[in-house]
Amino acid sequence: MNNKEIVAKAIYDVVKDDLSLEQVEQLLENPKSVDHGDVAFPAFSLAKVYRKAPQQIAADLADKIENRNFKKIEVVGPYLNFFMDKKVVSQAIIGQVLQEKNHYGDTTLGAGRTVPIDMSSPNIAKPISMGHLRSTVIGNSIAFILEKIGYEPIRINHLGDWGTQFGKLIVAYKKWGSEEAVQSEPINELLRLYVHFHEEAEEKPELDDEARAWFKKLEEGDQEATELWKWFREESLKEFDKIYAMLEVGFDSYNGEAFYNDKMDEVVTLLEEKHLLKENQGAEIVDLTEYNLNPALIRKSDGATLYITRDLAAALYRKRTYDFAKAIYVVGNEQSNHFKQLKAVINELGFEWSQDMTHVPFGLITQGGKKLSTRKGKIVLLEEVLNEAVQLAENQIIEKNPDLANREEVAKQVGIGSVIFHDLKNDRLNNFDFVLEDVVRFEGETGPYVQYTHARAMSILRKADFTMDEKAEYVLDDKDSWEVIKLLQKFPEVVLQAAEKYEPSVIAKHAIQLAQAFNKYYAHVKILAEDPQKENRLALVYAMATILKEDLRLLGLHAPNEM
Ligand code: ARG
Repeated sequence: MNNKEIVAKAIYDVVKDDLSLEQVEQLLENPKSVDHGDVAFPAFSLAKVYRKAPQQIAADLADKIENRNFKKIEVVGPYLNFFMDKKVVSQAIIGQVLQEKNHYGDTTLGAGRTVPIDMSSPNIAKPISMGHLRSTVIGNSIAFILEKIGYEPIRINHLGDWGTQFGKLIVAYKKWGSEEAVQSEPINELLRLYVHFHEEAEEKPELDDEARAWFKKLEEGDQEATELWKWFREESLKEFDKIYAMLEVGFDSYNGEAFYNDKMDEVVTLLEEKHLLKENQGAEIVDLTEYNLNPALIRKSDGATLYITRDLAAALYRKRTYDFAKAIYVVGNEQSNHFKQLKAVINELGFEWSQDMTHVPFGLITQGGKKLSTRKGKIVLLEEVLNEAVQLAENQIIEKNPDLANREEVAKQVGIGSVIFHDLKNDRLNNFDFVLEDVVRFEGETGPYVQYTHARAMSILRKADFTMDEKAEYVLDDKDSWEVIKLLQKFPEVVLQAAEKYEPSVIAKHAIQLAQAFNKYYAHVKILAEDPQKENRLALVYAMATILKEDLRLLGLHAPNEM
């Protein structure tokens, strides 16, 4: 129970006849300064009910409220200020975490309803970029967070496996490519072909016409085009899957853009029926002036469909297939206009559920403050970055804990985890710089630091042979444990906030704070001292480790017991 819930209950017991528990809870405030206690109740909100002066109401209430749970209740003018009793709170919180364990903070808010999460979604024949990494790990964490509050997340990889670029690739492959080269290094070779196409096309614009023609063939199901396309797709996916395996992210669906190729007529028909399609220089568009947006280009003059056409088909398909409560798109901020257009067109079609579609944008990963770019082959290969992170983690483990039994496994969990954590700890819209050495550090606000804190707690529990003691009271009231307990108490709210804002950084920040508070506790308090409080301290360590591990799980990280 959080403090507001404890206070609300105490007040409710007195005002039952006039207010509901929820009403009381809604009236409660957080005092601006600690001098005014932990929770405040504005008694003037009852002036109408009791027809008395607010000061009088406050005083009357203070007399009647059961104050066993509070250090004191102070009347200040029309306010009642509640000072929580650390002992009571620590007992309640530690007891609850020990009982509910990793399920502490779970709710049934989502009522089992689905939330398709459009995430990762790299483009075939191109390396998976740092941007796609962001989408992958942010989407994955949001899925865990929503699941914790009772939704059923559906992780969808909306692969960029369709579009005019495949016409270009086919042309380039037929002119300059070879089967062996693609087989041995699929993505590098396909990227080389793609880049080469653009270089050549600068001088020979007729290449673009050829490419358009090949894409048209592909859309019409031409056999040669389809076989090449399939092959490019499979080879690319093999490489993507290596990265997903390292990140331990799985998908419920790989239905990418191509999946909607035969579902686009429906979109066009619907738009026609509602008289939304307008002709513009041979192309068909939906006018979105009313929304202050550029028109949505649905079909080009040669009949080819576009990115947004496929997204419209995908939205209809997802609504029909999953009957979603919300549909989320974790895609870079640079596409925010695209998603505004998408929502607007769905709304124009008369579908109210357009309101349930949310674009969850994020900022760029930079190096030296500059955007990383895939253009002209200047790219950072994600697989290399992840491998290097594991290596750096292993070096540090060798130094700190040379005898660790499952060193390789832990190095993976720490190295990969450090990259994920670094990505998630900042507000997702912020741009941030990526310097691998800083990311994998064991000190500072890093994943390894949080994992290390968890491992330290587990080692204390091992040393003490900790087992749950049914009779322990969990009463603690020292200053250092209070900082830890407050953060444990806050955890359910933190989960809700993260879910509401689609913001994993809220969880990451909680993890950092909890780890810091615990390390202070560890530095100031002799946890293993043989005195009557020892069991209570160990219970706190256990509760802390449980929640830290749950924080990490929600972000997509492991919490090794030793490192
Ligand atoms: N493949 C696209 C890209 O790399 C991202 C797709 C995002 N999802 C979507 N439904 N549009 O830019």
